[in-house]
Amino acid sequence: MARQISIDSDRQAAIDAAIAELSAGMPIALPTETVYGLAADATNPAAITRIYETKGRPRFNPLICHMADLEMAERYAVFDPLSRRLAELFWPGPLTLILPLKQGSAIHPLASAGLDTVGIRVPRGFAAKLIGVFDRPLAAPSANTSGKISPTSAAHVAADLGERIGLILDGGASPVGVESTILKVEDGTIRMLRPGGLSAEEIEAATGLAVIRPVDSHATIEAPGMLASHYAPEATVRLDAVHVHPGDALITFAGMQPTGFEAARLVLDLSPAGDLSEAAANLFDYLKTADASGTGRIAVTPIPQTGLGEAINDRLQRAAAPRP
Ligand code: TXA
Ligand code: MG
Repeated sequence: MARQISIDSDRQAAIDAAIAELSAGMPIALPTETVYGLAADATNPAAITRIYETKGRPRFNPLICHMADLEMAERYAVFDPLSRRLAELFWPGPLTLILPLKQGSAIHPLASAGLDTVGIRVPRGFAAKLIGVFDRPLAAPSANTSGKISPTSAAHVAADLGERIGLILDGGASPVGVESTILKVEDGTIRMLRPGGLSAEEIEAATGLAVIRPVDSHATIEAPGMLASHYAPEATVRLDAVHVHPGDALITFAGMQPTGFEAARLVLDLSPAGDLSEAAANLFDYLKTADASGTGRIAVTPIPQTGLGEAINDRLQRAAAPRP
């Protein structure tokens, strides 16, 4: 079973143990403000291979490379002026930028899946400090078996990957709770490749520019059968529920009570006060709790599509998508 170290109670021990594992090319579980990451040296092909093996993830999927700060990021990627402005506005934070790799960049092609671009993010808090000490970028997908719900606590990671990794750093519950927003600047426009912990509204307010959704994301919403299954619990997930079947686990929002809710096996309110940031922070934990209740069915009430609601609904649609 993985060794667990609490960052709050022994920060130096956490840093020392993490540097030892990372230097040996081993992946570790690391808290970030979005979700827990399975992090390894992005310049070391053996280390990156171990990430893919540990997650059981298809190897053609590129990983996000995490940096200590913008200055470090500029050693590995080329910033156009708008991307740099976005970085200055929102880093450290839940934002990933897709950027051209710098010539001769030490990031290994296994991390970028051989593309000439790379996803880069500067996380908030401990993770960035650790990367500064290591002084190499950390490739890190979410610390879960591929296709399963992302972890927002050390306990989530331990239950899923505890037998497969050596070290889990415990930083408490992830405050944002959904993965980073992925943006790509193209011809001076901001394209959102994945909704996440930074809302489109915040980006638009700070830049005065429109955030453009890729055409195919509309297509996938219009054709839910085509959605890639991801974040999948064992139970089936029914969205926009206006009625609860007896024995359903119900995930609701802002005190919403669909008809029949008295017969639910379990009722979890993502945010009784109707706060979408709080709802995002609770989402994955509540999906796991609903699943663990042993019900075969999870019903979810409609969630507003504004602010972090866009990321919440994206994850819920994938959780509800047909399984392969
Ligand atoms: O919040 C997060 O982003 C978390 C934490 C651990 O930082 N990480 C995360 O990583 O969600 P992951 O591996 O689950 O998601 C990476 C996403 C994938 O959808 C991948 O396709 C996209 O980033 N991506 C990475 N590099 C890319 C590139 N060069 N071009 C387009 N998409 C890229
Ligand atoms: Mg993931």
